Amino acid sequence: MAILKIARMGHPVLARRADPVSDPRSPEIKRLVADMIETMQDANGAGLAAPQVHVPLRVVVFQAPISRSDGLEDEEAYDHAAPLTVLINPAIEMLDPAPEGGWEGCLSVPGLRGWVERATHIRYAGYDTEGRRIVREAKGFHARVVQHECDHLDGVLYPARMRDMSKLIFESEISHWLAKQKAEDAAE
Ligand code: NI
Repeated sequence: MAILKIARMGHPVLARRADPVSDPRSPEIKRLVADMIETMQDANGAGLAAPQVHVPLRVVVFQAPISRSDGLEDEEAYDHAAPLTVLINPAIEMLDPAPEGGWEGCLSVPGLRGWVERATHIRYAGYDTEGRRIVREAKGFHARVVQHECDHLDGVLYPARMRDMSKLIFESEISHWLAKQKAEDAAE
């Protein structure tokens, strides 16, 4: 296992469409997935896509805390108890395309957060490293993470999904926005 170097926004590998994996069970893919998991956990990320480690293949890993809400919670730490999912050649179907906003970050866009609208309810499918088919429904933060990671496979970083660039901020300033949101919620 190894911790891999993470490509940052501007590197061409993040802007291209990744290629399908021909054999999800191959030793090369198993090694890639093991390294991606180690890299994601080391970097305290909720997910990682293969292009982010300079491999243009359709592979994502994520560990979405089921209980986490859409906005950023106080708890920013990596949730080791969350189920770890490996998805090879994933596909997403929007079950409820009604968009909901939430703060996102990305290991390839370090130090920043952006407010991104995503579908709230999806079904996703793909394969694990044993070649078994995975089909699952996801809502909330879980659905957001899957959409974010799969976007990487199509060369899309979250800032490209943003509709209001005034909400692209440094993560060190997030507390101002969370306080504002809390006040707005309380006023409702
Ligand atoms: Ni990302």
